[in-house]
Amino acid sequence: MEIRLLTLDDHVASFRLGAEAFGSPPYPVEVPPAPTSLPVGREVWGAFDGDTLVARVAAHSYESWWHGARVPTCGIAGVAVAPEARGQGLLLPLFEATLGAAAERGEALSTLFPTANGIYRSLGYELVSSYDTVVVPTAELAGVRPPGGVRTRRATVADVPALKAVYDAWAAAQNGPLTRTGPRFATTDQELVDGVTAVSLAVDEQNAVVGYAIWDRGEGYDPTTAALEVHDLVAVSADGYRALWRMLGTHTSVAGRIRLDTSGEDPARLVLPTATWDVVGRHPYMLRVSDPAAALTGLVSPGIHAEIGFAVAGDRLRTADDAYVLTVGDDPSVCERTTDGGDVATFTPQGLALAYAGAQSCANLRMTGHLSGPTTHDAALDALLGRRPLHIRDYF
Ligand SMILES: CC(C)(COP(=O)(O)OP(=O)(O)OC[C@H]1O[C@@H](n2cnc3c(N)ncnc32)[C@H](O)[C@@H]1OP(=O)(O)O)[C@@H](O)C(=O)NCCC(=O)NCCS
Repeated sequence: MEIRLLTLDDHVASFRLGAEAFGSPPYPVEVPPAPTSLPVGREVWGAFDGDTLVARVAAHSYESWWHGARVPTCGIAGVAVAPEARGQGLLLPLFEATLGAAAERGEALSTLFPTANGIYRSLGYELVSSYDTVVVPTAELAGVRPPGGVRTRRATVADVPALKAVYDAWAAAQNGPLTRTGPRFATTDQELVDGVTAVSLAVDEQNAVVGYAIWDRGEGYDPTTAALEVHDLVAVSADGYRALWRMLGTHTSVAGRIRLDTSGEDPARLVLPTATWDVVGRHPYMLRVSDPAAALTGLVSPGIHAEIGFAVAGDRLRTADDAYVLTVGDDPSVCERTTDGGDVATFTPQGLALAYAGAQSCANLRMTGHLSGPTTHDAALDALLGRRPLHIRDYF
């Protein structure tokens, strides 16, 4: 079995493998013309049995926000093995090659949206969040309290930098969101505005943008069946959310439901007077910490001063297994590999992913066998890593 990067010549085989695995488009498959150049920020690794492509993994180069820092992140997508070659363990060598190349690009983390969690667990990934679609009855939005001094207006292309600044301010305060920068986010400001029914802004009395909603009107005006699709709803003030929700609520007579793409404990919900928030779609999200030293360096951790020794053991991809010293204080954190580990708390790779994401406490990791050894630094680790909610707002 040969493992290598796909080239433009592999376009037809790769497309067919993906179409067969994910069921689109319907048969007979019409393969679109090959692109003239390989995409920037995306590479695809394949496993070949002779000349036949039997498995593939795509890697997207992203950055995501963790603990106040932008961390280079390898986003895995399009994983497929030909049915006749399944169950033979092809994903292990494919991931070794894919994440090996990602490590050379400095991508300390890897994330993915699994179709089944069990596929990726033994490769060190664990479930930390999900990208969801929720439905809220439009009529309920009339009960949102009027905002003080914030109004809505339609965005023009000139507003896009301010809109992006709102996203950046929000995303930097969470764990997980992509930074929406780099070649995979090459949409121009004009395309962003033109690609949907509307981009609506919430602006305060100083005309500063404090929130936005990117939305599509959807089809029809039967209030029982029509729905308004909100792809992105972000604000940096409660009144920003109130203004946007109330604007969306004016569609009651023509669209009875708002379908919102969201994640985690969305602060947008904090101003809703009713409890309805029906999850109708869910894409689970998994994280792997490939390079713990890089991933834990540069964290912003005001108020916590500690030198934390820990280790990782059991990584089948062998990049994370080692002993480390993490120093946190007034300056951004520093994490280094050490040969002098001693008797320290030891994470499984999944345990480290869960702790890093702040998705589980050290106590829960110990109960589930993902953390063992001295408990000396459990409280500091919980305080350091558990201070931001988890969110992901981009599917790949
Ligand atoms: C999912 C898929 C890639 C797995 O291929 P495979 O050849 O079975 O993979 P491997 O033999 O390398 O097995 C990798 C691990 O996945 C597990 N696994 C495979 N299919 C699984 C499933 N449906 N549910 C849970 N775990 C599964 C295996 O048990 C193995 O676990 P282990 O390492 O703990 O032993 C393949 O079935 C496929 O292409 N399915 C259709 C497309 C798809 O779902 N892709 C994943 C997109 S996120």
